Amino acid sequence: MNPDDHVCLCFRVSQRKLVNFMEREKPRVASQLSECLGAGTGCQWCVPFLRRLHAQWQRGEMPELPVAPAEYAARRAQYRATGTRPDIEVETESQYHPEEAIPTPMPADSANPVRIPLTQLRRGQRAIVDCSELLDLPEGDRCLLHAMGMHHECEVRVCRSGTPCIVQIDSTRLGISGDVAKKILVTPIDDTPGAKA
Ligand code: FES
Repeated sequence: MNPDDHVCLCFRVSQRKLVNFMEREKPRVASQLSECLGAGTGCQWCVPFLRRLHAQWQRGEMPELPVAPAEYAARRAQYRATGTRPDIEVETESQYHPEEAIPTPMPADSANPVRIPLTQLRRGQRAIVDCSELLDLPEGDRCLLHAMGMHHECEVRVCRSGTPCIVQIDSTRLGISGDVAKKILVTPIDDTPGAKA
């Protein structure tokens, strides 16, 4: 997206306006972005993207969403027509129970790392994503995953296994359909005490 492209399509709030708002108001939580012309208070399609922008800004990064505006708008239209996000959802806080997470030790071999589909991770397990294996996915799915923070060698943590598979990247939680998740290859991180991550 370019700075003047709209992130919140309901209220025509551009990325530039959101960035200026964050610089000016210093919002502590992403939900405060709703005070920027009502962003996120309509159909709520843009809410996970607002969270993403806020997380980037909090880290001192230049907020950006690497997704084509046309693809973004098309997915939002699909979301509005069906009531569900085609492939990517963000879990609500009330659905997430971090105290239930159980790290599972996995064997590590740095010289020959094991790569398995994301769907094979257990709840609480962490892993490093290999985005070079995402080429089988439609471009729209790749762009959306990227926009939501799934970069090459980023760390994910499984909040809920199964379908949809729910993972956390930084402060963002994503629900990924089984069809997409099984094409995402990851290298599990060994959570055994004393092991290298
Ligand atoms: S796109 Fe932002 S609330 Fe609908």
